[in-house]
Amino acid sequence: MKQLAFLIAVTAILASCHKPEAQPFSVIPFPNSVEMGEGQFKVAGADIYVDEAFSEEALAVVDRFADQMALVSGRRNKISRADNGAKIKVIKNDNLGAEAYALRVTPEDIVVDASDLAGVLYAFETLKQMLPPEVYGSSRAKADWVVPAVSIVDEPRFAYRGAHLDVARHFFDVDEVKRYIDIMAAYKLNRFHFHLTDDQGWRVEIKAYPKLTEIGAWRDGTCIQKDFESNDGIRHGGFYTQEELRDIVAYAAERGITVIPEIDMPGHMLGALASYPELGCTGGPYKVRTCWGISKDILCAGNEDVYTFLETVLTELMDIFPSEYIHIGGDECFGGRRERGTPVPWDSCPKCNALMKELGIKPGVEARHYIQNYFTARIQDFLLQHGRKVIGWDEILEGDLKPGATVMSWRGTEGGVKAAAQGFDVIMSPNKFMYIDYYQSQEIDKEPFSIGGHLPLEKVYSYEPFEGMEPGSEDHILGVQANLWTEYIATPEHLEYMLLPRMCAESEVAWCDSTRKDFTRFDASLDHAFRMFDVMGYNYSLDIRCLIGMDRIPARTAEQLEDYITNGKK
Ligand code: ACM
Ligand code: ZN
Repeated sequence: MKQLAFLIAVTAILASCHKPEAQPFSVIPFPNSVEMGEGQFKVAGADIYVDEAFSEEALAVVDRFADQMALVSGRRNKISRADNGAKIKVIKNDNLGAEAYALRVTPEDIVVDASDLAGVLYAFETLKQMLPPEVYGSSRAKADWVVPAVSIVDEPRFAYRGAHLDVARHFFDVDEVKRYIDIMAAYKLNRFHFHLTDDQGWRVEIKAYPKLTEIGAWRDGTCIQKDFESNDGIRHGGFYTQEELRDIVAYAAERGITVIPEIDMPGHMLGALASYPELGCTGGPYKVRTCWGISKDILCAGNEDVYTFLETVLTELMDIFPSEYIHIGGDECFGGRRERGTPVPWDSCPKCNALMKELGIKPGVEARHYIQNYFTARIQDFLLQHGRKVIGWDEILEGDLKPGATVMSWRGTEGGVKAAAQGFDVIMSPNKFMYIDYYQSQEIDKEPFSIGGHLPLEKVYSYEPFEGMEPGSEDHILGVQANLWTEYIATPEHLEYMLLPRMCAESEVAWCDSTRKDFTRFDASLDHAFRMFDVMGYNYSLDIRCLIGMDRIPARTAEQLEDYITNGKK
């Protein structure tokens, strides 16, 4: 009995000696201004006041934070709309700009200032990253729920902070898309570019054209690695219903993210052509492509039915996606760079030839760019009538692009530099810095098979979007975007491996003033990020810690993959 009493006393003394310890400051993207203070604040259980001037959406952000704190700590922060002495205060401060926030932590209280919903969101994302990584968990955890005293004033460098996902080459279910959105939100990215259609599959339900998903969403197998003649014999496909897409849009919006859908046109359209062959110059037959590369078959630019088709598709699309921007692709309509100058269906199609004549376009290799300009302008006008704007890959700039389009520069930076100099808005997404489907280490025999290239974390981080810009044209750079093409990425584990931690580096390119970027500081912050990923169950690359990780991607058998496609994530 005496021994037990002794043990209890020692335990009590030890418990009373435990001093909660805050995390080292390792927030990504690094805020614009950070001044560390003395001491720390205990977050668990502290009451929160949310200024009445804030919307219900802002209240919902705080509510989600309190739910998460309750889940992991067992103590819910009580939220009130009346200021009756709460220790955490969320104040509407119209002196701050869009998306900006100030976060002041002292041992006594926390004060968040923001002028809009995004500012509140980002303040709480920063707060979460200052807490132990267990805050991202899905069950009760033992941790010191404290944050260090600090004064932060923060706002993004660029308004457009994008991440792209190709769900056409490989389909990913709604749960995985939401996980992609979750991690974007943690890193303050705000535009999700959803590449929904391509030669290898059509992934969006269009009620007026049911064959797009009955036929176009499925392919008879997939080539094995780069052997385009091979076929793994596994039918691959899938699509999102309009209801699922609305759910994704709403989920993203709650996290401050706009979903920008892409319908790639007039090339990369084999999914649609296989479903409705009359939309092509030759009438087909066409099949959804089973290998990578680019189909030479494209939409007929001289057929009015094609425009009716596209306007109907875009009308349904606009009803699902409230985004101001609709991405209309426009890339590689005439093959890749190697195929430059080889014939395209438009050259020999009577309808396309009649269109050229009507428009006064002289035959020749350049003619195709002017036909594409006509095509792009028609879609641009249609979208503009509905209050929307187009984004297109940088090929749309060739020839004579109609003003008002936004150019997404992917073939290096040249397209973006040129477009900005001509007065077009630009999103910089150069393959050399922002194509995160490239290998991240040079030990490629230890990496999962990839499309090629080499894009280590440091290189993503090193990107400076204004480099090479003509003086005065910088204002046209809306922001940056990382692209994740999925030809060689078939599973969520592999997708996340390619994404992380490179998305963290991109977030600093997009968010941080160039003077605030510092790779040494960023690298040190990654240990916290890796612990976050572990808690959230994300796969990631440890190349930066010299641990190359094939074994971090559990291989799925062909049957497991098929099961994933049919039944969703397990
Ligand atoms: C692209 O990578 N074809 C835009
Ligand atoms: Zn044609």
